[in-house]
Amino acid sequence: MKINLTINNQEKVVDIDPDMPLLWLIRDVVKLKGTKFGCGMALCGACSLYVDGELVRSCSYPAKMADGKRITTIEGLSENESHLHPVQQAWLDIQVPQCGYCQPGFIMAAAKLLEQNPNPSVEDIKNGITNICRCGTHPRIIKAIIHASKIK
Ligand code: FES
Ligand code: FES
Repeated sequence: MKINLTINNQEKVVDIDPDMPLLWLIRDVVKLKGTKFGCGMALCGACSLYVDGELVRSCSYPAKMADGKRITTIEGLSENESHLHPVQQAWLDIQVPQCGYCQPGFIMAAAKLLEQNPNPSVEDIKNGITNICRCGTHPRIIKAIIHASKIK
């Protein structure tokens, strides 16, 4: 089936299997590889992106439901490479990643948290971000989100 959607401010018409999750539309059809596959069960958050501004775990979101919607992926979070989103800048400043695999999902979740709560406490961050990092970068993630809240 054909659907129309806007991905990172670019309009697209894509031909997809009606049962395809949005994650595979983004990775395999549109070839944006920043959004990752982890669990495939809406548990880990590696596949997080925005659909009409809402944080969504795209492995469990049917691509056909994105028809007519606006998608933002990690590639579209900042305005351009010379003007990083404050969360991306904080990630660099604090040197958060280890292997890096889970980090796009965390960055998307962190940016949304700060949009909704510009000065979160450590508790707010722990409660608001349920993504999983197998490398155990959570302490640096918390530090980076607090840092991002101060530099934005
Ligand atoms: S891959 Fe989607 S939540 Fe884990
Ligand atoms: S940095 Fe390796 S899984 Fe998170």
